[in-house]
Amino acid sequence: MKEKEGLLVQKAYNEVEKFRETVKNDPYRLAYHLMPPVGLLNDPNGLIQYKGVYHVFYQWNPFETSHGAKFWGHYTSSDMVHWQEEPIALAPSEWYERNGCYSGSAVESDGKLYLFYTGNVKREDGTRETYQCIAVSSDGVHFEKHGPVLKLPENYTAHFRDPKVWKKDDRWYMVVGAQTLDEKGTVVLFTSKDLYHWEELGNIAGSGMNGIGDFGYMWECPDLIHLNGKDVLLVSPQGLKPSGYIYQNLFQSGYFIGELDYDHSDFQHGSFTELDRGFDFYAPQTFTDESGRTILYGWMGITDEMEIYQPTISNHWVHALTIPRVLQLKEGKIYQAPVDELKTLRKDKLEVKIDKMKGKPVHIEGGQSSELLLELLNMGKEPFQISFRNEANLILDSDKGEIRLQRRNLKTSALETRTCKISSVSNLHIFMDHSSLEIFINEGEEVFTARYFPNPKDDTIIIHGEGEFKITKWNLG
Ligand code: FRU
Repeated sequence: MKEKEGLLVQKAYNEVEKFRETVKNDPYRLAYHLMPPVGLLNDPNGLIQYKGVYHVFYQWNPFETSHGAKFWGHYTSSDMVHWQEEPIALAPSEWYERNGCYSGSAVESDGKLYLFYTGNVKREDGTRETYQCIAVSSDGVHFEKHGPVLKLPENYTAHFRDPKVWKKDDRWYMVVGAQTLDEKGTVVLFTSKDLYHWEELGNIAGSGMNGIGDFGYMWECPDLIHLNGKDVLLVSPQGLKPSGYIYQNLFQSGYFIGELDYDHSDFQHGSFTELDRGFDFYAPQTFTDESGRTILYGWMGITDEMEIYQPTISNHWVHALTIPRVLQLKEGKIYQAPVDELKTLRKDKLEVKIDKMKGKPVHIEGGQSSELLLELLNMGKEPFQISFRNEANLILDSDKGEIRLQRRNLKTSALETRTCKISSVSNLHIFMDHSSLEIFINEGEEVFTARYFPNPKDDTIIIHGEGEFKITKWNLG
């Protein structure tokens, strides 16, 4: 490691040490989610199973709970349940990444682990430079920077970032999130034989292309995957306006299903579907593990004006990643299911069967860090509601054919709502952690992800409604 990088890394470790106890004692620290040891975490990066070990890197500002010159933090695991904090993978020490080692991905080639990331440079006049860079490791822990391998091509602004690399047949491919000169979000495809020399194949999807109309000013974090026989482009567009129940957050993450013609770099695809219906979900990334599962992690947060009201900031940390979710494509829709490995966290099983629920709410204790499985057997007409620790509610409104998540706004405490249309609900799979909710509906046909900040002592789950249901609950930890 070069001297400058060494100094930066040391400064970050000092910060971790300085606030270790403060961070640890925060009642909103999560029990089974990945979080920054101090400072701000955003996108999951470089997801890979390399030589049997799962690696999760993440965008990290160790020095502040706001955005800045990002590092790549690093965790490893043998099971995606028990994680080890690894040495810092990337620190923004070189001229081409001075203002951040921005998001990217990982691949294995010839036994080595390659990280691709964006070197972000902000000039004094406020303009930017962007470089797609490589760092290489033979042990998966120590990385050597090989510098930029791709400069900004013509026809795009410097909002050009987040390389995702994969291999098909004997060639490497890369998608990069971009903005055209007339400020439309797009995704650019490249190819390479050796990972170091990249040829531009053109933009394969974007605002105004393929009949999708005006679709935002910048597309971040593209990810092109092959799922159940289809090519699926996951992407996080910025600049979509709310419309009915959709696009309610400042930025979105979702997908287009289609067919990528590699020979003509043409991606014919359908419409955009949001991956998540909750308040806090952005910049997801996937990887294929050694058992062939496509697994997704998302950032359980979003860059918006509410970020500064996260209460954990007073304890010097903010944000977390989602739990890992297995993706499946069924009938034109991505389904997300928590990885089976999380079952090893289960303890204190509780089963409750309600045959005829009328009026009288059911109270269940112990909802701080737990998993709930609800089978809805025979539901009445009244909305069925689950209240989480008196701070968030999930409402199934079969009359309207919709499901709503309410939580208290982080700034005003007023209830705010996210809604999605759904024709019928037969089961709910809910992961509660000290300050997060991940709600999987109908085996993951729809998902709501949210942070929430209840009274740390309040652990009650209250269910109201009509009908018959069965609930199984485990404490997790
Ligand atoms: C998405 C994003 C990426 C960028 C990174 C910087 O949240 O804006 O486009 O690489 O975060 O931290």
